[in-house]
Amino acid sequence: MLIFEKVGMHNFSRVPEPCRFCLYWQTKGEFQTEASKSEIEKAKLNWLSSVEKVFGNCVELACLGSVSVGFMQYAPPQYFSRVGDYASGPPSSDAVFIACLYIVSKDQRGKGYGTLMLRTLLKELRERGFRAVETFARVDSANNPSGPLAFYLKNGFEVVSRKDDFPLVRFKL
Ligand SMILES: CC(C)(COP(=O)(O)OP(=O)(O)OC[C@H]1O[C@@H](n2cnc3c(N)ncnc32)[C@H](O)[C@@H]1OP(=O)(O)O)[C@@H](O)C(=O)NCCC(=O)NCCS
Repeated sequence: MLIFEKVGMHNFSRVPEPCRFCLYWQTKGEFQTEASKSEIEKAKLNWLSSVEKVFGNCVELACLGSVSVGFMQYAPPQYFSRVGDYASGPPSSDAVFIACLYIVSKDQRGKGYGTLMLRTLLKELRERGFRAVETFARVDSANNPSGPLAFYLKNGFEVVSRKDDFPLVRFKL
């Protein structure tokens, strides 16, 4: 059974690779990967700490026993510099932006876990009083931080802007 675990400073080490050492959404322009893992982790922890103070929980794991199989990262769009690089943006200021929804191991994909993660997140954000959720989904490919367009359309999202293969999709809570 999939168990959901909110991530804070105390359990950040449970975040799986590569997500733990990735600052894609916290940066913009050419994606730099030269920094050491410990420098990246420190920067990501600083980001988490500052967003948590204003927005609340913004990273969550889906676990099977002690193994973290799924990773979700979300917050209002102003906390993700990278959104400025997407032609179909910007995301709406009233929406929570899903930056990442990712199942790490190929063996665990296609079993319905991604759907369960998305539905759980939508329920939590509705209970927290938010009005809408948005993400950049990818046309005809799952190779995208939050997954493919088909996944979001199947879960009731609507395309609000499409300027390239990464349309902005929205779900009204
Ligand atoms: C995309 C992802 C979150 C979906 O989660 P999942 O548990 O595998 O998906 P589900 O089993 O819940 O599938 C639900 C629906 O999503 C859609 N879907 C899932 N994977 C898909 C894919 N690879 N391509 C197209 N549609 C897909 C389908 O409509 C599917 O419904 P179906 O099974 O009736 O066809 C997951 O597969 C994943 O993380 N993949 C890796 C993505 C990646 O490489 N990201 C880069 C990270 S930086």
